Amino acid sequence: MATRFIKVLQTEDLPVGKSAIVVVDGEEIAVFNYKETYHAVSNKCPHKGGPLGEGRIQEGVVVCPNHEWRFELTTGNSMQNPEMKVKVYPVRVRDEKIYIGFKKRDDKALGKDPSHVPATLNFKVPTVQKPRNPEEEL
Ligand code: FES
Repeated sequence: MATRFIKVLQTEDLPVGKSAIVVVDGEEIAVFNYKETYHAVSNKCPHKGGPLGEGRIQEGVVVCPNHEWRFELTTGNSMQNPEMKVKVYPVRVRDEKIYIGFKKRDDKALGKDPSHVPATLNFKVPTVQKPRNPEEEL
């Protein structure tokens, strides 16, 4: 299935160890710079909707700020419940711009013209990630 990539941030907007929540046509996506690799997952925790973009990262796992459920950044798998998974989006970086990929079936939510960036694309101010273990590098 074809994937269309949409620019959501400049790399300078998201230094190592920080996260941002971008909104694409009403869908909140948490974007992380963890050890110089960018990850994007749904901002909505599948437990009770907590904002994963405001959670801390611990060994490649985002910890929901509400009840501390944990999700692997690369797979979206829950560490607590194998039945639960958070949606993971592919990320590309080109010319210092961060792009998030959407499957073709998501196009309805993104407007009819595939070359047109949705008018509602915006982002919130990046938040600082605090490692639980201060020895851990982000
Ligand atoms: S809302 Fe995320 S762990 Fe409960």
